[in-house]
Amino acid sequence: MSITEISRLDAQARAILKENDRGGYTVPTKGLYPFQWNWDSALVALGYAAFDTGRAWREIETLLEGQWGNGMVPHIIFWRDDAGYFPGPGEWDTRRSPPTSGITQPPVVATVMRRLFARSGPPDPGRLDAMLKAIDRWHQWFADARDPNGTGLVAIVHPWESGRDNLPDWDHPMSYVDISKVGTYQRRDTQHIDAGQRPAKTDYDRYMALVQFGRSHGWDDKKLADHSPFWVADVGTNAILRRAEHDLAWLAERAGETAIAERARLRGANLARGFDGLWSEKLGGYVSMDLRRGRLAEALTAGSWLALYAGEGDPARIARMAGLLEQWLEPVGFGLPSFDPGHPLFDPILYWRGPVWAIINRLVADGLTRAGLTKLAERIRADTEALIRKAGFYEYFNPVTAEGGGGDSFSWTAAMWLDWASPTADKIGGLEV
Ligand code: SER
Repeated sequence: MSITEISRLDAQARAILKENDRGGYTVPTKGLYPFQWNWDSALVALGYAAFDTGRAWREIETLLEGQWGNGMVPHIIFWRDDAGYFPGPGEWDTRRSPPTSGITQPPVVATVMRRLFARSGPPDPGRLDAMLKAIDRWHQWFADARDPNGTGLVAIVHPWESGRDNLPDWDHPMSYVDISKVGTYQRRDTQHIDAGQRPAKTDYDRYMALVQFGRSHGWDDKKLADHSPFWVADVGTNAILRRAEHDLAWLAERAGETAIAERARLRGANLARGFDGLWSEKLGGYVSMDLRRGRLAEALTAGSWLALYAGEGDPARIARMAGLLEQWLEPVGFGLPSFDPGHPLFDPILYWRGPVWAIINRLVADGLTRAGLTKLAERIRADTEALIRKAGFYEYFNPVTAEGGGGDSFSWTAAMWLDWASPTADKIGGLEV
């Protein structure tokens, strides 16, 4: 790629973040997702860090401003009304100010903050301490509310909490969700995006049934733990939380917050023990588990390789996962597909059932680097660079044709370009530096 083309894409990525900036928080893309989303914001902060560190820290602060009294950081903060999105604040009915959804999302924030800190030092000390305390409370909420029996695996109560909404992993556990009382509702996503690239109506009915379930139980943690029809250990969320505890401990040590560091280490050790239960010897990787039925998912997803990002240390398992990753990359032009390209349910353009996502690539490549698999990490980065160059800053990409899918001018794709995929990005090692 020529220097001119790289500079053009770097400038375009910065312009997308500025266009999607609503003043302290950034929408994932205009139209389709018009509010502040949790893990989008955290990852978008990495993009700002390439040109405006102050703005990067601010993105995290506005996200944490939505934190609930019980410690949960919600998956959407509805800072302003927008009738173009469904389900809006009225459907969630969480009675918060600002209004929020009633569920969370993968807690990638501590890991992002570690990178901001390692690159540019802390924001002023009072601000860092406040953020660390908020994250400690959020992680503790995961332990208390989503793993009340201390098994070392945290549950999600809605596929939206995984951030990987229509993954085939959820098909079986979601088949138990009763949709007989859902009623009629008007989807908005398919007014913005081709329905063939969005979850099916049967998925949406179940998504809405789970929102109605949470709302009717007042979003009470204990009631959800005891009765939620969907109670699943997502391999992605568990890997991301485990890594986040490690990075929170690192940050807290540097900030002199030794009690937070100690709690993070203890929770992290428990999560490492629990994570082992997601290993599928049959598949040769880590998968999600339906905790209501003790049943492991039957196929690998891109999230399986987040085990390396989480800190997998078993050389035999790492070698097996590396071999399988090479097999996955063979039939597709561009890695990493979000779902097994050899599986009958693979669909190269349907959201989380096949397409490539730059953010997953970024996290998986970090894990590969940590495991010493630097050639594979570079392959994933180079594929991400090629996809963005060919298609633009789409929400996700077809791994076979390189065509873009979902929303355009997407904030986290622009952020991943600036942080990592661009040949000009400052990417010495993994996310830790
Ligand atoms: N990703 C979900 C949606 O599509 C919500 O988080 O609306």
